Amino acid sequence: MYQYSLHERLRKLCQKQQIGYEGSDLLFYTRLSANAAAIHELYTGLYSNHLMADALFEKLLLTLIDNHKRRSQTLRQRDETKAAAGHWFLSNELAGMSLYVDRFAGSLQGMQEKLDYCKELGINLLHLMPVFESPEGESDGGYAVSDFRKVASRFGSLIDLQQLQQQMQEAGMYLMLDIVLNHTSQQHIWAQKARKGDPVYQEYFYMYPDRSIPDSFDAAMPEIFPETAPGNFTWNDQAKKWIMTVFHQYQWDLNYTNPAVLIDMLDNILFYANLGVDILRIDAPAFIWKVAGTTCQNLPQAHQILQLIKQCVAVAAPGMALLGEAIVAPSEIMKYFGTGNRIGQECDFAYHATQMALQWDALATGDTRVMLAAQPQLLQKPPGCSWITYTRCHDDIGLGYDDSMIAAAGFDPYEHRKFLKQYYSGEAEGSVASGALFSVNPKTQDARISGSLASLCGLEKAVTSDEINLAIRKILLMQAQSFFIGGLPMLFYGDELGYTNDYSYLTDPGKSYDNRWMHRPLINWSKNERRHEALRTEALVFQATQKLIRLRKQFPQFADKGNISWLRPHNIHVAGFIRHGDRPLYCLFNYGNKTSYLTWYAFKEQETIPVKLYDHWEGKKYMVGADYEYLLIPPYGFCLLEVMDNTLLTPQ
Ligand code: GLC
Repeated sequence: MYQYSLHERLRKLCQKQQIGYEGSDLLFYTRLSANAAAIHELYTGLYSNHLMADALFEKLLLTLIDNHKRRSQTLRQRDETKAAAGHWFLSNELAGMSLYVDRFAGSLQGMQEKLDYCKELGINLLHLMPVFESPEGESDGGYAVSDFRKVASRFGSLIDLQQLQQQMQEAGMYLMLDIVLNHTSQQHIWAQKARKGDPVYQEYFYMYPDRSIPDSFDAAMPEIFPETAPGNFTWNDQAKKWIMTVFHQYQWDLNYTNPAVLIDMLDNILFYANLGVDILRIDAPAFIWKVAGTTCQNLPQAHQILQLIKQCVAVAAPGMALLGEAIVAPSEIMKYFGTGNRIGQECDFAYHATQMALQWDALATGDTRVMLAAQPQLLQKPPGCSWITYTRCHDDIGLGYDDSMIAAAGFDPYEHRKFLKQYYSGEAEGSVASGALFSVNPKTQDARISGSLASLCGLEKAVTSDEINLAIRKILLMQAQSFFIGGLPMLFYGDELGYTNDYSYLTDPGKSYDNRWMHRPLINWSKNERRHEALRTEALVFQATQKLIRLRKQFPQFADKGNISWLRPHNIHVAGFIRHGDRPLYCLFNYGNKTSYLTWYAFKEQETIPVKLYDHWEGKKYMVGADYEYLLIPPYGFCLLEVMDNTLLTPQ
């Protein structure tokens, strides 16, 4: 809405800052005018009581103008191309991989030489795990940032990063980086100044002289790393204060009730945008607003901040999509796409963490009912927003779906979770998995699971060729469902070759306290070469993963356009959905350890009934049979059945 004083203020500011009246300047001005009312409303909703609110609002506007001015012509052009394509990131032609630059390629320069490998696999989007400066030994894998703009020397330099981005862009690849929004390293300059008593920077963190306020927070806040970093506050001797440290003790939580913090971090966000980032992963957004007496997670103000960031990015760097890394309950995750009149105006992406965990659930139990019970809620995702789909990432697997979903499948939630933890830590009888429990909370017995895709699927323990084949089938089943379910598939490096757990982290004091390092492999390129040797495990997994990516890119039905409907259950071992399009694709996944029989009636419950089907995975043709006949799906197998030309019938 036009607001005279606000829009006049913008006009004058833009004039003063020499924003022109044509080309990309005019487009910027148009976007700024269009979003100004929303930006102002969100900002005042958060900060109207702050003494410096108005002066800092001016600073926020200047941050947008300044970063627009710094945006290169190439990126401005790319913004326009993406805008014209409309929701470019929903495309089925994207396939991503998440990796540690040092562990994958040694350095950013080394990474340039590995782009061909990524292309060979079909990957055209790279999530580089944090490369900005973070103190070795207390880096949390790079998520404790001590300088948001300086690339850590172990990776190379900012110029190396820019060159890599350039090379990726020329090769038609996309880049994803993190902004670690919730906290800084205790070595960040803001934390150093705060420690020395600088009152301006003490306002950047949550610092208290005694335990009274920390105790009131702690009473309602859960612990994230109860074993290694219990509690949510750490005493600092130099500052003589308790400092909020929700994650590790060396990660200081930023205080977003101070608008100066938000604006400085917005400036960092736009700095990344101007490096050419296509998707920005916002780390741990669920935690960014704290109120004593609450869990300090998923609070409404955290959403308002994300919405404000979204509006600002849409003005100054509209081609950059936002991924909110909220690993939260199914009912909470939807809110990260925006709610009410801001639906679809918060994060463009969220992790499909519930679906990921549910696949692990089905793999351990051989039963897909919990997965199916969760779908009505997961299908609520608004149009234009998407999931990052995955089976593994650098973090642990949390079993955070609702008890009611487990109960709906007929299981006791406590016993069911206990079984899953025992199964994946390898303790349950007959378990083939080699994983470990992560962050066990002695008070609640809550725990998450660490382990690589291959190890959790049994490859580490597999000895005979049958065992190895079974593990490979499980790996591919897990990947296939996450590639076809809708969203942007994000492989975790090493999984494309079946890397098993790496226990060398135990000898590194900077890592040994955190068993997530077991599934963050150090790439051995001579092992990777085995992908060319027929019948090697590496070759079987690599080539099959390549084929999955190829199939995803081949069918526009896999673009995430809300075109999915789940099949009604007919066999508890089989999960199935249709990806609609000109020709529907039936995707079926057998989590059972035996051949599963699926009645052909399952294909007759839609508006149209297929007659002939072609399975693009196995290369087999089928005629849809009578209701008492069955489609047979092998143990841990899957099918990708395309309805063949003109063979859809409408029931009478
Ligand atoms: C995110 C990261 C995780 C990290 C945490 C704290 O959840 O994915 O690796 O430990 O944030 O920054």
